Amino acid sequence: MKIAIIGPGALGCLLVVWLQKVATEIWLVDYRPDRAAYLQAQGIRLITLDDQEQHITVNCTCEAQDIGPCDLTIMSVKAHQTRAAAQSLPPLMAGGGLALTLQNGIGNLEQMAAVVGPEHLLAGVIMHGVTLLEWGQARHAGPGKTILGIPPGSQVRPEQLADWVSRFVAAGFDCQSAADIVAVIWDKLLVNVGINPLTALTRLPNGGLLEVSEAWQVTSAAVQEAQAVAQAVGIAISPDPLNRVRQVCRATARNRSSMLQDVLAQRPTEIEALNGQIVVLGQKLGVPTPVNTTITHLIRALERSYLPSPP
Ligand code: PAF
Repeated sequence: MKIAIIGPGALGCLLVVWLQKVATEIWLVDYRPDRAAYLQAQGIRLITLDDQEQHITVNCTCEAQDIGPCDLTIMSVKAHQTRAAAQSLPPLMAGGGLALTLQNGIGNLEQMAAVVGPEHLLAGVIMHGVTLLEWGQARHAGPGKTILGIPPGSQVRPEQLADWVSRFVAAGFDCQSAADIVAVIWDKLLVNVGINPLTALTRLPNGGLLEVSEAWQVTSAAVQEAQAVAQAVGIAISPDPLNRVRQVCRATARNRSSMLQDVLAQRPTEIEALNGQIVVLGQKLGVPTPVNTTITHLIRALERSYLPSPP
């Protein structure tokens, strides 16, 4: 099985180290030539939950044509990079291979489908907490489920999905499939809506949100608004989203959320694909979202304090 992972961030590092166990050939795609050369030379280091260091060598390139057709390509870039990264998909999927998004937020699938069509796409969520320490080095900071499914418009067969779920399990993931993957993506969206901006604004690790009641009150209000928006859109999210946020905070208590990592590294955040989408859909459907609007404004203001121009 030949696998390519687009995006050498925290999650990309975890994916490459774990999935190399089930791949005959594994590649990382990075849009930055300097970093791609560095990762090709240095490999990837992952500090495991029990503080062991795993090191693997990996092929890394910024040219998808160098790689050729893969069986599976995993999109693991930040949501605001999906449109550009999707341009790498055609040569990677040329042999009829599949592409899977494991990203935060909504809108990623649609941007991939705009380039390669929806027929060969899979979607999924991953609840692990992973912290990027430096280029090619990440710390696994909390376990979580991985759920894969066949999104609307895809022609991937259920047995193909089952094969990939088995391979993820063989690689060490607590992985299962879901019939309604769009609902699962929204379940995860609500987790990110509650955790990511609040940790980015307060600089608390995920577990800290449960200990600081002022932060938890805002998290709760943001998730409740997002739940109302999901219902208005007609998404069959799972019951008790706030309890899921609580469980992820506990399981990834030591982790810095991806948005806190972005703010600390002065990178653009995923706010537009998370709380920003709740605001946009709320406006469209007449659902009030004052808390998510304020959170979105605060994160945008924070980004403006270190980015030369709006992302
Ligand atoms: O974005 C993140 O950081 C992750 O999706 C999660 C699961 C909230 C863990 O930190």
